[in-house]
Amino acid sequence: MKKNIENRDDLSLLVHTFYAKIRTNAEMGHFFNETITDWDAHLEKLTDFWENNLFAVRKYSGNPIAAHVEVDEKFHHTVNPDIFGLWLNLWFETLEELFEGENVELLKRRARKMGTFLLISIYENRTRNQSAFSAQTSM
Ligand code: HEM
Repeated sequence: MKKNIENRDDLSLLVHTFYAKIRTNAEMGHFFNETITDWDAHLEKLTDFWENNLFAVRKYSGNPIAAHVEVDEKFHHTVNPDIFGLWLNLWFETLEELFEGENVELLKRRARKMGTFLLISIYENRTRNQSAFSAQTSM
């Protein structure tokens, strides 16, 4: 029988299993493999992030919006809703594969919500850049 997500070790297993899939994913792997140089540190940070999110343990300090806006710029604005959809599908799949219970459902909802915010921020940043460009060229 699968168990509920109860502690940091559970989250660490979730994060490691999820990113192992991400890294080898044909559509998404390159965003991560060409950006993240220290995978151990990255997986620790992501475990901190989800521990903060689920159990209010204040270890994570970072700026996910800025990080994703930068990734979108680095990859010439190719981070689109399909990519977020793929990310979320893999997240749901991994959660269901390893665990069951209310925290599984909570982490699905939290990731979906965060994905929406990240995507909106990415598109806002593109619009800002475009307006700055038009203002410059119309002078
Ligand atoms: C949909 C939900 C998603 C969540 C909850 C999420 C969460 C996070 C978090 C918390 C970080 C660490 C930010 C920091 O403090 O540095 C991160 C980094 C990163 N994410 Fe996401 N992410 C999501 C989707 C995506 C997608 C779709 C992509 C595809 C491009 C992506 C690519 C990356 C990359 C490449 C980094 C590393 C950035 C760096 O270290 O410079 N993420 N993500």
